[in-house]
Amino acid sequence: MKILVTGGAGFIGTHLVRELLKRGHEVVVVDNFTLGKEENVNCFRDNSNYKFYNLDIAKGNEFWEALKEKKFDIVYHLAANSDIQKGSKNPSVDYNDTFMTTVNTLELMRRIGCKKLFFSSTSAVYGEKQELLSENIGDLKPISYYGGAKLASESFIQSYSFMNDFSTVIFRFPNVIGPNLTHGVIYDFIRKLQNNPNELEILGNGTQTKPYIYVFDLIDAIVKFTLDIDMLQGVEIYNAGVESATSVTTIADIVCEELGYKDVKYHYTGGNVGWKGDVPKFQYDLTKIHNVGWTASKTSDEAVRETVRYIKEHLNESSYNGWW
Ligand SMILES: NC(=O)c1ccc[n+]([C@@H]2O[C@H](COP(=O)([O-])OP(=O)(O)OC[C@H]3O[C@@H](n4cnc5c(N)ncnc54)[C@H](O)[C@@H]3O)[C@@H](O)[C@H]2O)c1
Repeated sequence: MKILVTGGAGFIGTHLVRELLKRGHEVVVVDNFTLGKEENVNCFRDNSNYKFYNLDIAKGNEFWEALKEKKFDIVYHLAANSDIQKGSKNPSVDYNDTFMTTVNTLELMRRIGCKKLFFSSTSAVYGEKQELLSENIGDLKPISYYGGAKLASESFIQSYSFMNDFSTVIFRFPNVIGPNLTHGVIYDFIRKLQNNPNELEILGNGTQTKPYIYVFDLIDAIVKFTLDIDMLQGVEIYNAGVESATSVTTIADIVCEELGYKDVKYHYTGGNVGWKGDVPKFQYDLTKIHNVGWTASKTSDEAVRETVRYIKEHLNESSYNGWW
């Protein structure tokens, strides 16, 4: 198959591209390295089935012009500003990189006649809900610009899918972690401990508790729901997650334990959220995805520990130098 992956130089995109190439597909990646890294995709350069375009997808004309002669069987749209905290300081980041990249990707599909789409949405579309989050829950009120831009993207996807007979799968990811992650709490703690091994600043009161999915579990689900199972016309939304969850203090404990930092004094900045727009606690209802026959292999705590262990083993490699 001929496949387009937007945001394919990012954390999740790189793992997806590797899996698609392994399966023998032709993969075109578009990314502008705002958060993704060239080192992430250098390993694919010699593969004749791989092609890379360095383009800002938020600038529609350049993006459509570059790909206007292409034919794709499916588009995996992953490009976005994935750093909610960064976006909270400037709404235009999510307007451009999260929302406009979606609108422009949909428009590319309409113009070149591509009919299948996978979209990486997020738990942030739900906002702050007390109940178990199920896909058909109503009255969604995202509290971050990022969540708003993803929910607006989902709406545009609904209308483009209806108007153009697309078959679309939307996954609402929880926190995704694993090798090569580009940001987030684990990344943040390791960076802080490298700078000061005696004290760790923890945003909020440490009780923020969310599900963390291991990236290889997620890739397994994406591939299953888009390539192994026939995609039906219309839009199907799934919570793709794990049943368990991990608190921020537990993540700090695991990081210190695995990296051998002893007697670290935790300094909490206070309040029940890390920053305005952060959702402190949530848990998914996973009935829908489980009923189709997919369950994550790792619990949330296992995913955290596995990620920290991977980082520990690779800390001295050049690809991690850019982190700190
Ligand atoms: N990682 C998570 O915990 C998580 C959770 C929920 C949803 N998601 C979603 O999954 C997708 C992938 O996330 P990730 O963690 O791999 O993030 P990432 O930042 O590593 O990857 C996103 C990629 O998109 C690219 N990009 C951003 N704006 C662009 C633009 N205007 N033009 C071209 N490329 C652009 C970035 O350079 C980056 O390589 C994103 O859509 C994100 O919102 C991620």
